[in-house]
Amino acid sequence: MTGFGGQFETEAVPGALPKGRNSPQRPAFGLYAEQLSGSAFTAPRHENRRSWLYRMRPTADHRPFERYEGASLFAPGTANEPVAPNRLRWDPPTDLPGGADFVDGLVTMMSNRDPADLEGVAIHLYRASRSMAGRVLVNADGELLIIPQAGTLRIFTEMGRMELAPGWVGLIPRGVRFRIEIEGEATGYVAENHGAPFRLPELGPIGSNGLANARDFETPVAAYEDVDGPCEVIQKYLGSLWTTTLDHSPLDVVAWHGNLAPCRYELARFNAIGTVSFDHPDPSIFTVLTSPSDVPGRANADFVIFPPRWMVGEDTFRPPWFHRNVMSEAMGLIHGEYDAKAEGFQPGGLSLHNLMSGHGPDVESWRKASDADLEPMKIESTMAFMVETCWPYVPTRFALDRAQPDYDLAWADFPKAQLPK
Ligand SMILES: [Fe+2]
Repeated sequence: MTGFGGQFETEAVPGALPKGRNSPQRPAFGLYAEQLSGSAFTAPRHENRRSWLYRMRPTADHRPFERYEGASLFAPGTANEPVAPNRLRWDPPTDLPGGADFVDGLVTMMSNRDPADLEGVAIHLYRASRSMAGRVLVNADGELLIIPQAGTLRIFTEMGRMELAPGWVGLIPRGVRFRIEIEGEATGYVAENHGAPFRLPELGPIGSNGLANARDFETPVAAYEDVDGPCEVIQKYLGSLWTTTLDHSPLDVVAWHGNLAPCRYELARFNAIGTVSFDHPDPSIFTVLTSPSDVPGRANADFVIFPPRWMVGEDTFRPPWFHRNVMSEAMGLIHGEYDAKAEGFQPGGLSLHNLMSGHGPDVESWRKASDADLEPMKIESTMAFMVETCWPYVPTRFALDRAQPDYDLAWADFPKAQLPK
């Protein structure tokens, strides 16, 4: 099913979906009707997100959660010290746990705000070499934007199955349980959005087409498993991990309808727009999805990509210029090279340019761009992304201990401007 935030309806068994009722007295086959809300009941209609699930057992059927003792690198809390105004960059970590599944292979690199504020975003990396077996993950703290960097993820959510290869991103709503299966090893990024659900950005003067088009978002059809046997539910809740064990698989939703659902999107379908005259536009022109804050135009989180595209601007410094922003920028690289850095930013790596940190091209990229013959040229074979937020990121201890020690040197040795005598 395609479309973003549209009203979907799907049933894995004919007749499972009630017609003309959300909660009939007796749903078909003895299924249980359950509403999953992604917004307050009274949110304006265009922001209202909810789906009705028809399942074999209600989610309410579980024993008390207890603290989860595994996955010490996922949701560990941020470093307990003042945040230095330093620019930070990381190579892909080489010491993530081996042999882990997706849950235990997650490591939190940075976050901002308390999940209980219903604002903020966290950035995690993952390295998994095993399928989740006999367990599911659910995040009460926010939706998960999964950005594979290597290896394909097969995600079985309550609302259906979807496959995510590198070059695709997947969005799993707050509260939706899922299991991830993999073959070989899989690495990538997760942006966890505690705030308003991601949506497509307004297009303003761009018009009714362009950037990410709604019809390119794919939502799975209903799929369920009928499994009686132990299934662990790991829940991230208010920044901590909790566990309980059911006597059945909770991936037992036979039919559902509504506009709150997982979806996936192929980044190659992004219609990039840029200058055809001069000057380098703000990176907001590359926004795929946005989570607004309560301040108009100031995003709680923007998911932005830097895809292959033509560069044709005349008398223009084509890479990003030097800048300092109120917004804070976490960047990752799925593959290829990012045009503002000559070296040191590897696929699977990460960088952080926080509130008012001066950054931009390194010396080599600046020199190359300043001397370039400005023929039309195409940036090819690359996909970088940014999760930009109005709340400064706070790195975790794990991240601080692994930051590149010499990142500042990327901006050393710029020649001094020569004023007329
Ligand atoms: Fe930047």
